[in-house]
Amino acid sequence: MKSGSKGKSTKLTMAQQADRHVLYEKSVQDTAGEYEFVSETFQQLRGRAAINIREDFCGTANMCCEWVRRGDDHTAIGVDIDPEVLAWGREHNVAELRPGAQMRLTLMQEDVCTVKTAPVDAVLAMNFSYQLFKTRDALGNYFRSARAALVDDGILFMDMFGGYEAFQELKEKRKCKGFKYVWDQASYNPVNGDLLCHIHFEFRDGSKIKQAFTYDWRLWTLPEIQELLYEAGYSKVSIYWEGIDDETGEGNGEYEPVTVGEADAGWICFIVAEK
Ligand SMILES: C[S@@+](CC[C@H](N)C(=O)[O-])C[C@H]1O[C@@H](n2cnc3c(N)ncnc32)[C@H](O)[C@@H]1O
Repeated sequence: MKSGSKGKSTKLTMAQQADRHVLYEKSVQDTAGEYEFVSETFQQLRGRAAINIREDFCGTANMCCEWVRRGDDHTAIGVDIDPEVLAWGREHNVAELRPGAQMRLTLMQEDVCTVKTAPVDAVLAMNFSYQLFKTRDALGNYFRSARAALVDDGILFMDMFGGYEAFQELKEKRKCKGFKYVWDQASYNPVNGDLLCHIHFEFRDGSKIKQAFTYDWRLWTLPEIQELLYEAGYSKVSIYWEGIDDETGEGNGEYEPVTVGEADAGWICFIVAEK
């Protein structure tokens, strides 16, 4: 025993050994599914393939990497305000790409509302990140700046969650390989719509990473988002709703445009806003 260790085990817990960004990518992101949705929907709507994208709130740039991997002519610009998450993405995701693909990816540490980029076919703002804008002015301003970043027939893709459970203070746990993911809607204020959420991770040795990620959002509703997008100048806004697997009764991963959705406890949809 080393002197000074007083017999305490120096073995690290599973939480201490884990990397919160790895856990996030494994439990939250589905870049392959997102890629399929964006590329197929763009092709259907525009009759051509999307080649250049900008990923707003790109975090670890996982989606940008997926995009440039999927086509030799694909380019991606990732924008995030946080230097730590971008550095992690460069080291763990971008470094894994072939050199040719790395050349077609640009990461920018900027605010999505003020960043200036060359026009792209599609802007992606996934995992509900735009909900950090809490006023109509702030969110409308973001939608206008995303629109300005698009080519003439460009499209903004976002996702959204809702349903009556979205307005509740609750915790949901989901088993992932090697850990548990906990979604914690810690507080909701019905007066102004503020929703404070955390992601925690739990491990089988009892250790935890509490508040690995925190989101201070306003819980917007779909009608508000559609109105704001039209006010920001988009010509057509469509809501793509997930179909149901007849056997399991669960979502089947296929999204179709709808004008009527299900009043489920919890749903996730895509918002497609055409310039
Ligand atoms: C929920 S994460 C989204 C990660 C990723 N897009 C995904 O789909 O999982 C939100 C990200 O937005 C970034 N962010 C917050 N405010 C921003 C702003 N004004 N401009 C650019 N990035 C911002 C944060 O640093 C964080 O990495």
